[in-house]
Amino acid sequence: MKIDVLTLFPGMFRGPFEESMVRIARRSGRVDLRILDLRDFADEPHRKVDDRPFGGGPGMVLSPVPVARAVEHVLDGADPTADGAPRLLLTSPQGRHFDQPQARSLSTAEHVVIVCGHYEGLDERVLEAFPFEEVSIGDFILTGGELPAMVIVDSVVRLLPGVLGDPESIENESFEGDLLDHPHYTRPRSFRGRSVPDVLLSGDHEAIATWRRERSIERTAARARG
Ligand SMILES: C[S@@+](CC[C@H](N)C(=O)[O-])C[C@H]1O[C@@H](n2cnc3c(N)ncnc32)[C@H](O)[C@@H]1O
Repeated sequence: MKIDVLTLFPGMFRGPFEESMVRIARRSGRVDLRILDLRDFADEPHRKVDDRPFGGGPGMVLSPVPVARAVEHVLDGADPTADGAPRLLLTSPQGRHFDQPQARSLSTAEHVVIVCGHYEGLDERVLEAFPFEEVSIGDFILTGGELPAMVIVDSVVRLLPGVLGDPESIENESFEGDLLDHPHYTRPRSFRGRSVPDVLLSGDHEAIATWRRERSIERTAARARG
């Protein structure tokens, strides 16, 4: 799949997109991930991307001009409203809460475009001009959409076939089904006076599966109680 991230701060992606699963997915060619600098789509000579808000008030607003040009550039003539068109995401604290079903749905897309907002946000007219899905990663305010974009890309890329060594590890994960994941243990067998549950050392696969399922049910119920 192809993912384009449009941002004012491409340097922020250097570490996170060059490590772990995203790195594996890029190196194996499972994802073609491009980070585009919105300033490259602003007018010379100053390449200004923000301006003061009409009507007054604090802060700056991200200009619609470079954002629209950058989106049109990555769409490369594709109609964003057509069936199978690239998915256009806009990071926004006002958007729909991002979740595992949305990550799964995005992982089946051929092309995803993520626009990272900044300052007070984007000029409203660019939201009207394109069919953006506004995506929030939680009810708090970040400085920009770069961290949300990293969160989205990471959660999507690890779902691509062949990226995780063992696809079974996804099946049992929290939010993949109705239950949260069960607890995990590894060596040493005893850690600061705490032992690994006997059943996990028993070699009885059925008993282990039952124990894990019971723990998942307990955890899910405890979380639902708050
Ligand atoms: C400082 S925020 C703007 C907040 C905006 N004035 C508001 O109150 O709704 C700047 C940018 O960061 C990104 N952002 C901030 N918090 C976010 C969140 N929780 N989820 C997704 N994006 C977020 C968005 O792209 C947003 O346009």
